[in-house]
Amino acid sequence: MLRRTILAAARSGRTRRLITNAPVSRSVVRRFVAGSSVDDAVRVTRQLIDAGLRVSLDHLGEDTTEEAQAKTATAAYLELLARLRRAGLTGTAELSVKLSAIGLLLDQSMAAENARVICEAADRAGTTVTIDMEDSGTTDATLAIVGDLRESFPSVGLVLQAYLRRTEADCREFACAGSRVRLCKGAYKEPESVAFQDKLDVDRSYVRSLNVLMAGSGYPMFATHDPRLIAIAGERAKWYDRSPGTYEYQMLYGVRPEEQRRLTTEGETVRVYVPYGDQWYAYLMRRLAERPANVAFFVRSLVSKG
Ligand code: FDA
Repeated sequence: MLRRTILAAARSGRTRRLITNAPVSRSVVRRFVAGSSVDDAVRVTRQLIDAGLRVSLDHLGEDTTEEAQAKTATAAYLELLARLRRAGLTGTAELSVKLSAIGLLLDQSMAAENARVICEAADRAGTTVTIDMEDSGTTDATLAIVGDLRESFPSVGLVLQAYLRRTEADCREFACAGSRVRLCKGAYKEPESVAFQDKLDVDRSYVRSLNVLMAGSGYPMFATHDPRLIAIAGERAKWYDRSPGTYEYQMLYGVRPEEQRRLTTEGETVRVYVPYGDQWYAYLMRRLAERPANVAFFVRSLVSKG
């Protein structure tokens, strides 16, 4: 209920202005975002990699409404790749890209072309790209673009969201050799016609989808902070005789860092999703919507700063 309310309120221009201009927002943002510059992104990536983790970097921005903006977002990824390469980090750090940041809402073929440019550069730099999944209005277009990209770059990862009713079937389709699939619960406000609304139903769908991915021959990436789902993934890995490294866990920067380290110490592969840049509003609102404790943290910071 709180989640849906926050996601709905986040769309209002007034809320956006209020949150974006509140000085305290910056300190909350720092918890979830590496910083505004590419230097910040590279610095945080280095720290995480030194701690034994892997990284997927997201240049913040989405729902781009102008072609020039889409080009700027594409160029930002190229600059990031050049910097990661120079720093010797492309073996352990990859990219996460939102198609709406590079033009999907303007023109599907423009987004596909920009994604291709990024994938080519990533391939030359020796790393991979995962295409994030956004609201359900973009699912088919996103899967079509990933399908095309995979013909040239088979390592391109896709994301499936357990809250969508279609996801278990999508997992069956994509659990094939070499296929990198990130499974998450899903972060957008979706209607009942396409998505489970009850948390328990979403978790059950996650477990069914996890089973399909573990039983298949692809490379599953379990993106969750949920202790029960992490434990179930571990059990299924044993059941299907999968050794660490044939699947991975993924978590967000700033969320459960001690659990990220614990899993790494146990020999598991853990990748941290690291966002950076100035366009943090929508990302922050989804993080607040996910967890009442994050809202409390935000409100406490507001109050304590007077
Ligand atoms: P949920 O939020 O339901 O939390 C379950 C439990 O986890 C909690 O009850 C608590 O026990 C524990 N927990 C969660 N947060 C905690 C915290 N801060 N501290 C302590 N315990 C905590 N979504 C999307 O739609 N498209 C995408 O492309 C992606 N990509 C993506 C990448 C990665 C790497 C991650 C981790 C997530 C995404 N997501 C996403 C977001 C995802 O869909 C989802 O909204 C969040 O991960 C929150 O869901 P959880 O699975 O963590 O469970």
